[in-house]
Amino acid sequence: MQRRLFIRLAGGGVIAAATATTLAGCSSALPPDAIAAWQSPGQGETEARRWILSHAILAPHSHNLQSWLVDLSVPDEITLFVDQKRLLPETDPFSRQMMMSQGTFLELLDLAAKQKGLRARIELFPQGVFPPTTVDGRPTARIRLVADAAVKPDPLFAQILRRRTNREAYEARDPDAAALQAMAVSVQQHPFRTGFVGSAQPDALQQHRRIARDAWRIELVTPRTVMESFKVLRIGPKEIAQHRDGISLNDPMVRALDAVGLFDRSVAPAPDDFATTGQIDEFNAKIDSTPAFFWLVTEGNDRVTQINSGRAYARAQLAATAAGLSMQPLSQALQEYAEQAVPYAEIHQLVGAPAPRFTVQMWARLGYAPAIEPSPRRGLASHVVRG
Ligand SMILES: Cc1cc2nc3c(=O)[nH]c(=O)nc-3n(C[C@H](O)[C@H](O)[C@H](O)COP(=O)(O)O)c2cc1C
Repeated sequence: MQRRLFIRLAGGGVIAAATATTLAGCSSALPPDAIAAWQSPGQGETEARRWILSHAILAPHSHNLQSWLVDLSVPDEITLFVDQKRLLPETDPFSRQMMMSQGTFLELLDLAAKQKGLRARIELFPQGVFPPTTVDGRPTARIRLVADAAVKPDPLFAQILRRRTNREAYEARDPDAAALQAMAVSVQQHPFRTGFVGSAQPDALQQHRRIARDAWRIELVTPRTVMESFKVLRIGPKEIAQHRDGISLNDPMVRALDAVGLFDRSVAPAPDDFATTGQIDEFNAKIDSTPAFFWLVTEGNDRVTQINSGRAYARAQLAATAAGLSMQPLSQALQEYAEQAVPYAEIHQLVGAPAPRFTVQMWARLGYAPAIEPSPRRGLASHVVRG
C-alpha cells in the first residue's frame, strides 16, 4: 500500500503523490548519493572513530533531521553537539525529541564501538545540562574510546543496516510473544517501562487507535505544525541529493508541478481541504489495521532521561528488526504543544503513566510489514565540525 501526500497546488487544486518513503519501498528512484551512507558504512576508514560514526549516523532522528555535530579534534575522543539549525520548535517545543535523537545516535555509536572491541565511555553534558525547555551550544556528550578486552560485541549491531522506520500498512497479525519479550529485554539496562498492546486486549487496542487518529488530525489542522513539515520537504532528485535529510518526495508528477511553480509549499491546507482530509483518511486506515502498539515510559523527564530514552528506543527497534518486526513512532500525541493537550493526557492515562510524574517518551506502531529501502543520510563529512 502506498503512502501518499496530498498536496495543495498554487491556485487551490490538490494532487496526491507517493512519498519518498513509498518510492523507496517501490522503486530505486531515490538518488544513489542520498542513500550511499548505508552501503558498507566506514569501509576504507582507517580511523576507528570514523568507522564508528559512519554507523551512528544511520540512527533514527525525528523528521530525519540528523542534528548531529561531532568534534574530533582530541584524539580518541568524540564530542557531540546538537546542530541548533535543525530544531523543530513547533512540534518539539522543548527539544525532547531532539534529545532522544541524540540518544539514538549514542546507542548506535556504542554498538559500533563494541564491535571494534572498544569501550565508549560516554559522559553526558560534560559542560552542564541544558535547561528543561531549551538547548544550546554546549556538548550533549563527550565520548572516550578505550580498548578493553572485556568488551563483547552486541548482537543488535547486526541490525543497524536493516533497521527502517516503516510507514506502510502492517499485516493484521499479532507480533510473536518471543519478539515482544526480546524487545523488552533489549532495554532492560534502563530503569524504564515498556509496554505492548495487541489483539488480546481489544478495548485498549481501540483506544490506542483512537488517540493516534485524534492526534494526527490535530497536527494536520494546525497550520504552524503542518508548515514545519513543509519546510523540510525535499522534492525531486536534485533537492533530495542536495539535502539528504527531511521528508523526501520523488514522485514524477510532483517534480513536474514543482518545476513549473505549481506546488505550493507556502500555505497550509485548510482543515476541510481534500489535502487534509485525504491524508487523515489514509493515516486512519493504517492505524485501524495496526495490530499492536509499543510504548516506553520514564519516571521523570530530565535531559539525561530523554537521551537515555532515545538509546532505549534504538535498542527496542533494533530488537524488533531482528525479529522481523517493523515500527513507526507516533509522536503527535506525545508532543508538548497546546493543541495536543487532550491526546497527551489520554495516552499517558491509557498506559498507566499519568503526567507529570511519568512521561511517555515513545509510542509506536508495531507489526509485520513489507520491506522498504533506507531513508537518506547526509554522510559523515556533513557532521564533522572539527578534526
Ligand atoms: C524521537 C523520534 C520521533 C519520531 N517521530 C516520528 C513520527 O511521529 N512519525 C514517523 O513517521 N516517524 C517518526 N520518527 C522516525 C523518523 O522520521 C525516522 O527515524 C527518520 O525519518 C529516518 O528514517 P529511518 O528511521 O528509516 O532511518 C521519529 C524518530 C525519532 C527518533
